[in-house]
Amino acid sequence: MTLPRHAFFRGRIVPYSQARVGVLTHALNYGTAAFAGIRAYWSAEEEDLLVFRLADHIRRFTQSARLLGFELTESPDDLQTAVLELLRTELYREDCYIRPLVFAGDESIGVRLHNLTPEVSIVSFPYGRYLENDEALHATISSWRRIDDNMIPARGKIAGAYVNSALAKTDAQRAGFDEPILLNADGHVAEASAANLFLVHNGVAATPPVTDNVLEGISRRTVLELLPRELGISAAERSIDRTELLVADEIFLCGTGAQIAAVTRIDHRPVGSGRMGQVVASLRKLFFDIVRGRRKEYRRWCTPVYAGVRDTHRTESSVETPLVHSRD
Ligand SMILES: Cc1ncc(COP(=O)(O)O)c(C=O)c1O
Repeated sequence: MTLPRHAFFRGRIVPYSQARVGVLTHALNYGTAAFAGIRAYWSAEEEDLLVFRLADHIRRFTQSARLLGFELTESPDDLQTAVLELLRTELYREDCYIRPLVFAGDESIGVRLHNLTPEVSIVSFPYGRYLENDEALHATISSWRRIDDNMIPARGKIAGAYVNSALAKTDAQRAGFDEPILLNADGHVAEASAANLFLVHNGVAATPPVTDNVLEGISRRTVLELLPRELGISAAERSIDRTELLVADEIFLCGTGAQIAAVTRIDHRPVGSGRMGQVVASLRKLFFDIVRGRRKEYRRWCTPVYAGVRDTHRTESSVETPLVHSRD
């Protein structure tokens, strides 16, 4: 991964080398942070970078912060502006990933969520695939259970909770699989390590409900909208039994990192034919057309980065420019 050249840090865009925290930082010690993961896709036709569902990602980011009881000084509009300004400073002309983070920046010990000072940082870097084998993933049912809402809320992207995903991912990969599928404490299918899951059986799709300890994924919401409207496939949000995975015709993962990824084997058993199915293939094509701005009906999900500001931003750098009212 190429390191970014800049970061949004303490209310302004600074060189990445200046976005640093001390080892006593509360979030680093206790996982008291929440983050977002957003993609921007390069459109060669438009010569522009299109951020996918920026407003929705920022909304979930503030929701994740709220789960931790963090009040952000930046408004959702400020955060969207900061993301766009950062991308214009980096001047990327390729697909990239954007990582907003809100973290307890206090350099003090003591486990708590109160009396902490949340700070926001945002970085962005060029990014391709997150899952290498995304047309034919071999998944395994993990022995690790998905964290429960009464332990750490799974519906938000809480940094500390990702140890749960990391334990499952590492065990899966060390055992020769690409990706784990975690069950929740009730034994129902929850999700993969960093992606939501759908199955298709007898022409009907299903995905676990948000009450089954899954992240409220934005790609999941996108797929729930696209399947019936564009592919004529009804999609239910309902609990899924483990063995439904073994008889499904198709299974796929969706997420900002994963995009749309076909699972073609689970624990050495083929899913359906053992090859990427028709629904997943069609959905992938549709998804990539949409994120690259080729489908007018879904342009509302694509925020162009350079359109309208080309002349100013190709010549001026916004480094060190305060973007929002800074705390100090
Ligand atoms: C645990 C988990 N589930 C699901 C997803 C998918 O969410 P989204 O589509 O909002 O990126 C992610 C993040 O990418 C995740 O970390």
